Amino acid sequence: MDTADYYNNTDTKEAIRAIHAALDQGIRLIDTAPSYGWGAAEKIVGKAISGRRDQVEIATKCGVWWKSERGSPNGIKNGKATYICLSPDAIETQLDDSLRGLGVDYVDLLQVHKPSIPPDLTPIEETMDCLINLKRKGKIRAIGVSNMSLQQLKSYQSIASVDSNQLRYSMLYRDHESDVMPFCLSHNIATLTYWSLEYGLLSGKIPKDRNFAPGDFRNEAEHWHPWYKSHNREKLMSMFSGWHDLNEKYSCTISQLVLAWTAAQPTVSHVLCGSKTVDQSIDNATAGNLNIASADIKRMEDDLIALDSPD
Ligand SMILES: NC(=O)c1ccc[n+]([C@@H]2O[C@H](COP(=O)([O-])OP(=O)(O)OC[C@H]3O[C@@H](n4cnc5c(N)ncnc54)[C@H](OP(=O)(O)O)[C@@H]3O)[C@@H](O)[C@H]2O)c1
Repeated sequence: MDTADYYNNTDTKEAIRAIHAALDQGIRLIDTAPSYGWGAAEKIVGKAISGRRDQVEIATKCGVWWKSERGSPNGIKNGKATYICLSPDAIETQLDDSLRGLGVDYVDLLQVHKPSIPPDLTPIEETMDCLINLKRKGKIRAIGVSNMSLQQLKSYQSIASVDSNQLRYSMLYRDHESDVMPFCLSHNIATLTYWSLEYGLLSGKIPKDRNFAPGDFRNEAEHWHPWYKSHNREKLMSMFSGWHDLNEKYSCTISQLVLAWTAAQPTVSHVLCGSKTVDQSIDNATAGNLNIASADIKRMEDDLIALDSPD
């Protein structure tokens, strides 16, 4: 559950309705972080799950700070200076804030949001000892990491068992397929993929002339994401139009085909997707019910291989 700042003030009431719709459709995992909306996302999740705690697993994160100048500078995000700090007292303080915001006494999964960076490098042993202690205290049920290289993941895993790894992965971004993902599979580490819809681009609803609201980070995307350039969006839209027979065959949308393709990859265990509205929530949640024939998954794969590189 990302929110507000990135996508320009997602409406709180609609966000809560969207979470309820997902739960009603059988979704059982909500991913959030203290830094999403600078604490706002966790509060929205807390409101939405009030009275339904037993129906949902909550995953949150630790390590990205913005409340004080703690740790190593991590750049300016949505106008705020952020820092990475993975020292034990910082993790525990941040988790206590998360528990308060979420209105719960434990989270099911606490993930190291990003690896430690210089100059304030917390030894991985200290971070892991802290997480193991939090598990013993009953404040967290499982330990996860996110945005790790294979080497970093191996370092965490060498200290204690890592339960999950959250990483960027989509039809258009497959960098971890040959190293991190097989490692997760062989070590029984769950893989939670993010940006699997490439912030909407893979929903098939971003044609070349779509404009984004002021403040939506996708206004800048053309500068750093080659597929967001309008002529490249056109190539994607053309590939999607070749999938109309699949939409009909499975009575599904393009987003659902994309999510089903992602979930069908052998090294993917969980696909995270951001839903802003009730309709998107239902669309995304019910993608989990699709059973796409392997020949059709292969056909989509072939189309992806044939897709010209973005220019
Ligand atoms: N670990 C990390 O560092 C990290 C980083 C990023 C995200 N995440 C996690 O991954 C989750 C997903 O990321 P995300 O929300 O940024 O990206 P995403 O899932 O790739 O894209 C979400 C956007 O796609 C559009 N969309 C979603 N479902 C749709 C549907 N069914 N039909 C049409 N459009 C649809 C919506 O935007 P429009 O309607 O405006 O087009 C929505 O805001 C986050 O909530 C967060 O939990 C983690």
